[in-house]
Amino acid sequence: MSGLTDKTSERQEVGGKIDRRSFLQWSMLGLLAAMGLAALNVVVRFLLPPPKEYKATELSIPAGQIPSGSSMVVEYKGAPAIVIHTENGIAAFDATCTHLGCIVKWVRKEEIFLCPCHAGRFDRTGKVLSGPPPEPLHKIKIKLTDNNIVFL
Ligand code: FES
Repeated sequence: MSGLTDKTSERQEVGGKIDRRSFLQWSMLGLLAAMGLAALNVVVRFLLPPPKEYKATELSIPAGQIPSGSSMVVEYKGAPAIVIHTENGIAAFDATCTHLGCIVKWVRKEEIFLCPCHAGRFDRTGKVLSGPPPEPLHKIKIKLTDNNIVFL
């Protein structure tokens, strides 16, 4: 038994240096510890609520910047929003497609929102006309105050 212990200690230290096997064992242990910490980080970030920085956003746009027939993409609460001005008035929508999250574009000529990813089409009220989107675009409440479009 003592012979085995002597061999082990001989293997670990040869001339005051750590041998290859011990180095690999410590390296693997360090790698496993790093992977464990990375996995723990992912789990903790998943369980924690998202940051609240997106909630305190207020947006106001001069109505003159969106003349009749035009549209404008703005950032609202950390996401792209699209404001359109048609003969029916001014409306704003979350520009994120309800299918897989691509950003829709306003096609003025046809008065539709078109998603470039899978050709999802929405009418000017956000209702799905065709394509894979499972639900309408999310409308954003706005009001016109002092010639400004205010996002609510
Ligand atoms: S992401 Fe818009 S249609 Fe697929």
